[in-house]
Amino acid sequence: MPHILDGKKVAQKLKEQLKVEIDNIKLKFKRVPGLAVIQVGNVAASSVYVKAKTKAANEVGINVFDHHLKDTIEQGELLNLINQLNNHNDVDGILVQLPLPKSFNEQKILDSITPEKDADGFHPINVGKLSISQKNDENLLIPCTPFGCLLLLKELNIDLVGKNAVVIGRSNIVGKPMAQLLIKESCTVTIVHSKTVDIEKICKKADILIAAIGKPELVNKNWVKDGAIVIDVGINRIKLNENKSKLVGDVFFNEVKENTMAISPVPGGVGPMTIACLLRNTTTSCKNRLA
Ligand code: GUN
Repeated sequence: MPHILDGKKVAQKLKEQLKVEIDNIKLKFKRVPGLAVIQVGNVAASSVYVKAKTKAANEVGINVFDHHLKDTIEQGELLNLINQLNNHNDVDGILVQLPLPKSFNEQKILDSITPEKDADGFHPINVGKLSISQKNDENLLIPCTPFGCLLLLKELNIDLVGKNAVVIGRSNIVGKPMAQLLIKESCTVTIVHSKTVDIEKICKKADILIAAIGKPELVNKNWVKDGAIVIDVGINRIKLNENKSKLVGDVFFNEVKENTMAISPVPGGVGPMTIACLLRNTTTSCKNRLA
């Protein structure tokens, strides 16, 4: 039987630890970590994520500064807001929910967040730090989804050294930072993507397979080696009929799961871990700023 990687449970455990840390910060410094959450426009999926992030932050005692802006605002107004938050002493983390409306230069916006408050770990300084840092640098701000995937893997208590890891997807948010984290664990890492030749054959060699390509149930049993560990980052809504839809991952879970050592479900796998890691980054920013 495969081990089903229960992201809700692991995220809850991390949140309990963060609560204790935040209580200690409160006792010692008479304040709590603050997270500014910026959403521009009303993309439905973004609203769901922002709501979930805000709720989770409140649960662990993080103070949320909510900034929901109309999609008609100018880029300059958003840059001004970020500048204010960069200088606001009670704000330790700043998150700009992506994607931004097409008229915005996303990278320019991410670059304007001061690296010390970069709750997503997307600023070039933090991307660079992740790539050159030692394995256990606790002060790093690490992109939340790949960090959550790594923590799920660690739950298995297996030796990751020398394992053949294949990451499907080369995004800045997941694929590339995931590869960096796995390299730090001394895995042998391959990134495959939409233009890769023989993608199935390469995936089939993976001891650890991370699917972050955004294609519903693309990864079937022909892609997965017997006994592999499979982490599914995909969150895809598919229509069942006129009135009904459901969430599925990038992995064809029911077909793939039987032959795996461990597999993460969708929902209830990586999703809750992403949110817990955002809270971890905010707490880390706060600790770094108070040190
Ligand atoms: N959109 C999709 N994933 C993410 C994420 O991890 N952070 C932000 N800010 N936006 C996202």
